[in-house]
Amino acid sequence: MVKFNHSIQFILNDEDVSTEAPPGTLALDYARQHRHLNGTKSGCKEGDCGACTVIVGELDAQGKLRYLPMTSCLLPIGELHGKHLVTIEGLNMKELSPVQQAMVDCGGSQCGYCTPGFVVAMTAGLMEPKLPLNETGVLHAISGNLCRCTGYRPIKAAGVQAIEALADKLNTVDRVQSLVEAGALPEYFTGIADRLKTIHGETGVPQPEMALDASDGEKQPRFIISGGTDLYVQRGDELPNANVVLLNNGKRIGAPELRDGRVTFDARMTFEAFAEDPLILRHLPEMPAYNDLIASWPMRTRSSIGGNICNASPIADMTCLMLALEAELTLSGDDGRRRNVPLREFYLGYKRLNKKPEEIVASISFPSFSEPTVVNWEKVSKRAWLDIATVNAACKLRVEDGRFAEVHLALGGVAATPLYLSEASRALEGEPLAASSIHACIDVAMGEFTPMGDVRGSADYKRLLARQLLLVHFEKLYPETISQEDLYAPLR
Ligand SMILES: Cc1cc2nc3c(=O)[nH]c(=O)nc-3n(C[C@H](O)[C@H](O)[C@H](O)COP(=O)(O)OP(=O)(O)OC[C@H]3O[C@@H](n4cnc5c(N)ncnc54)[C@H](O)[C@@H]3O)c2cc1C
Ligand code: FES
Ligand code: FES
Repeated sequence: MVKFNHSIQFILNDEDVSTEAPPGTLALDYARQHRHLNGTKSGCKEGDCGACTVIVGELDAQGKLRYLPMTSCLLPIGELHGKHLVTIEGLNMKELSPVQQAMVDCGGSQCGYCTPGFVVAMTAGLMEPKLPLNETGVLHAISGNLCRCTGYRPIKAAGVQAIEALADKLNTVDRVQSLVEAGALPEYFTGIADRLKTIHGETGVPQPEMALDASDGEKQPRFIISGGTDLYVQRGDELPNANVVLLNNGKRIGAPELRDGRVTFDARMTFEAFAEDPLILRHLPEMPAYNDLIASWPMRTRSSIGGNICNASPIADMTCLMLALEAELTLSGDDGRRRNVPLREFYLGYKRLNKKPEEIVASISFPSFSEPTVVNWEKVSKRAWLDIATVNAACKLRVEDGRFAEVHLALGGVAATPLYLSEASRALEGEPLAASSIHACIDVAMGEFTPMGDVRGSADYKRLLARQLLLVHFEKLYPETISQEDLYAPLR
């Protein structure tokens, strides 16, 4: 058992809590086993079903509280220091909330196992001012929830009914307060920000002595956890009592910055935060649409880009995009020494990294760009939501005077590692913007990888997908110059 010499303080629903539980303990296990809050259900314990969904409130740099949904089955309790953890019990009032009532009215529950997760997710959707108050917003909110018996039509209808009951009463400035006033959230929510500030103290962040490294000096393997969405799926049984290093230890994640011509950001940045940032949106305006195809809302509020890169999955979505963006990693060792590694030199083989075990990817950067440089990212998976890619593809291209001046192509799902297509990229540079040069480039690309067949598709299918996705980049980015007929001629 790891010794951990300070307590984790947070607010659980309406209760101030201080616990000595090991920091790697799952919020799900803490709620159910330590606190007997059994409304939060344990389903898959892999982030897939949403039965364990909770809402976590965190103060931002301005002292404003923001609530986001998370799967408690992949959430280490050590990260909750100074935050507000809301389980289904924390949403209960004397009467049913409008969301709970709508689930009853619309027949949105049968066996009921998934129901708390849906209610929590829909409530989180109402609390998030960025989600539209319509069916699209409902679908976004419940994108991480599965139901095996009711079917989704009544559940969706319940979400829409709750919105219709509340829409006129909700404002975008302080959604939580307006939900309290509309009787959709318990009154105690009003005082949470001030209560959290007392845990945080004057600095606004958890105190240094609260740095949540559970290292006990013994020689046991240590696990570096960022969002935990990969690690808990792989090592879920070990982590609660293991020597964990929580990267999200209270140190705030700043916004991406433009430094020396590069966009630089903290490797702990989540997919959700990345797609909201104005500097990122200036470079990647399609990022929110890409995000819609990546995991689910409660997963994206946890998944970090550094974790995506270090997990080294051949189909990692963000990694594929980062390869095309020519990303570079800044690694930090135990002695504080830093070194930079281009992402395309980071993968040495299947899950083998150009990184010492103790090194942490501290930040990620990519060269800033503007028109005429353009980017595209594509993904094919078996389901639109909550699915990993069969093949993914990304490109960064610049055309000047009718010729490709800069080409960066990346593919995922076709090799042991995420793949930068160096030969194909070089082959296209200097060539005219024409279907014939693209076909020649793709012929070179097809020689750069040998996919393996697996449950997501045969090797032949993946080769076909890779070719198709590479073509799609050019169809989307240069529709006025290259006709679809010419582009897809070799596939006919
Ligand atoms: C239900 C579900 C759906 C998913 N869907 C997708 C999807 O659609 N697309 C996709 O690409 N992925 C998907 N994933 C995988 C996962 O969410 C991502 O890979 C995510 O980016 C991992 O980030 P994390 O912060 O959670 O990593 P963690 O689990 O914290 O860490 C992953 C690995 O990287 C190491 N690590 C993490 N951060 C650092 C760092 N800064 N420095 C050094 N080492 C580090 C950890 O030690 C660990 O070995 C899904 C996962 C689940 C459970
Ligand atoms: S138990 Fe299924 S997502 Fe957590
Ligand atoms: S009501 Fe049974 S799983 Fe949804």
